[in-house]
Amino acid sequence: MTTTGTPADSRVTKTLGHVALHYRKAEDGPRAARLFEKLGYARVQELPLPNGSRFYQFAVDANAPLEGDGIIYLSRASDQQLALLEAVHSALRVGQPDQHPAVAAMRSAQVSDPEVTFHVGLLMKSLEELEKVVVDIRESAQRDPDFIGRINIVANRARRGDAGIDARMDASPVFGSTARECYGRYGCQAFIETSLLTSGPLGENLVIELDYLFPGHPQHMFNKTEI
Ligand SMILES: [Fe+2]
Repeated sequence: MTTTGTPADSRVTKTLGHVALHYRKAEDGPRAARLFEKLGYARVQELPLPNGSRFYQFAVDANAPLEGDGIIYLSRASDQQLALLEAVHSALRVGQPDQHPAVAAMRSAQVSDPEVTFHVGLLMKSLEELEKVVVDIRESAQRDPDFIGRINIVANRARRGDAGIDARMDASPVFGSTARECYGRYGCQAFIETSLLTSGPLGENLVIELDYLFPGHPQHMFNKTEI
């Protein structure tokens, strides 16, 4: 066990710099970029690539200095990666009557727990902002042609046991109707699963997790996991 400092602590010598995310089809690039803008990320760069797709750089916080962290890169998956995914789908007969049983098992595992495979988690300082973003994306998934059929949202409310937090969760437009709870206390999570991005063993989707931590609790879900 190691103790950790605060962000302002001068002993902090490393931060998580960037994550590189990929879409499969060129036309999904601008759609994925729009999703990131709905999430509140700032487009720092956008440029065309020789293969006809677009490369983007996003800052997860528009107010943070551009000094090498807090970055999401977005580009089309390489031809080699797409060819490999195609070969995997073909070999496992994905979507065919004789599909390999491991495919359905993996999909069902991801339905029961969006964190079961690769995903990206982003911490938000405002629960209200998190809710605003999720409600906007939820509504867009119903009526925006770029997002219809491409987004699924799952929420984990804060673990029950604190009357104030329980009431806040009950009243929430995002967390009020879910019985699911987090792997730890004093936080809540919203998962935005989208087929606009590729990741995971089958390359079919990516889960972007939005987190909020209720302040004032020394022990919480990000330093003590509870199964
Ligand atoms: Fe997670």
